[in-house]
Amino acid sequence: MKEFDKIIGYSSEKKELEQIADCLKNSDVYKKLGVNAPRGLLLHGEPGVGKTLMSACLIEASGRKAFICRKNKPDGAFVSEITRVFSEAKENAPSIVFLDDMDKFANGDSRHRDTDEYVTVQSCIDSIKGSDVFVLATANRTDCLPRSLLRAGRFDRRLRVSAPKGADALEIISHYLEGKNLADDVDKKYIARLMDGHSCAKLETIINEAGLYAGFDRKDKISMSHFMRAYLRDMYGETRDEDDDEDDDDDYYSSTAPDAQLLRVACHEAGHAVISEILDPGSVTLVSVGGLRGGDRDGFTAYCNVNSLPPFENAVIRAITGLGGMAAVENKFGINHGGAAADLDSVFGIVSKMIENDGICGLHLHGYGFRNTSDLDSKIEQATIAEVEKYYLKAKQILACNSEFLDKLITALSEKKLLTTPEIGEIRNSCKIVPFAA
Ligand SMILES: Nc1ncnc2c1ncn2[C@@H]1O[C@H](COP(=O)(O)OP(=O)(O)OP(=O)(O)O)[C@@H](O)[C@H]1O
Ligand SMILES: [Mg+2]
Repeated sequence: MKEFDKIIGYSSEKKELEQIADCLKNSDVYKKLGVNAPRGLLLHGEPGVGKTLMSACLIEASGRKAFICRKNKPDGAFVSEITRVFSEAKENAPSIVFLDDMDKFANGDSRHRDTDEYVTVQSCIDSIKGSDVFVLATANRTDCLPRSLLRAGRFDRRLRVSAPKGADALEIISHYLEGKNLADDVDKKYIARLMDGHSCAKLETIINEAGLYAGFDRKDKISMSHFMRAYLRDMYGETRDEDDDEDDDDDYYSSTAPDAQLLRVACHEAGHAVISEILDPGSVTLVSVGGLRGGDRDGFTAYCNVNSLPPFENAVIRAITGLGGMAAVENKFGINHGGAAADLDSVFGIVSKMIENDGICGLHLHGYGFRNTSDLDSKIEQATIAEVEKYYLKAKQILACNSEFLDKLITALSEKKLLTTPEIGEIRNSCKIVPFAA
């Protein structure tokens, strides 16, 4: 259906929406079969992923008149607004009631109970039973919506909309880049990897911000460095100005002789990056040292599941990679430099989940509720520590066998402060690599 062309990517979601639109538009076909069209659809997912856009396309494709309800009035007035919208929709059936951002009003969690509003929504849905009114709603969170509201018969269909990934992200980025004056160095695939898992609204904003930087620099084309500035500013709060000089495009930060602290941070981040690149080639999207995040952390390494690894394999790689910072500093300097608490927290979290959920240390540690929990908890703790130690040894071994790659990354990071996927790939290709499996 052409009405859905405005939605870029999301082919399986579009298919489901097209099917619902067909039920609403050609209800006679379904009635002859003796079946009823779904009574309601809830689109849910994080902000900016296109729920309102998808709803608008569904409404258009259904050919029905929609009566829209968005919270824009104080509580009491809004309750009568909900009743009015439903009764107008009923009078004009076949029609649609569209409850946009329903979790902002029909909220049943104990802290923000909108009892009057959700009771009204629920009773209004029940009051239109038997009339040809379809209820379409969007929400960021479903956990705060009362279960009674979500039961089948009220919202028969639910569709989770996630942030775009992989080919969808690339398609959306290409769409937003259309008509923009781009320099030759703009690498759409790399932008898509950087932005993997971020909402469409964020992609749109960052691409536009890049254009604003180019305009402010009085350039007639938007270059990759403008994208990097927009991305780093949005994601990490980076606001340092870049040197205007074109020749300096690669040299994003000015070079200084690496001091001891910087060298250790570079070693720590390079440790994460080397392990990730050995176990999952091409997975590092960005490595930075030198306080990009405004001093609360001295460096970071960002990854993307570019090889679409299954969740379990990805978790094992993330656990070993998470220990790579500590392992590299210990391999190089013979001591641990501290600052790895967040890494350890994250690795212990990943590993204990694998023990409890995936049975990697035996089925007796599966966290099922019938066991003596305190006994089970302490056994899981012991198994987690042993498993993390095993991964730590593996991290040290991978780094020891790939010391050329580690050294070159440390040097490049100390000089440039920021390395991108193509730069990391270039360094990797210049080294003798000893492969490992997770
Ligand atoms: N798949 C997509 N293709 C093209 N543009 C999209 C897509 N998804 C979202 N957008 C654009 O991203 C922006 C945000 O989309 P939208 O308002 O529909 O998000 P939302 O999920 O309803 O967010 P919120 O939860 O904050 O209400 C809009 O400009 C929209 O047109
Ligand atoms: Mg919306």
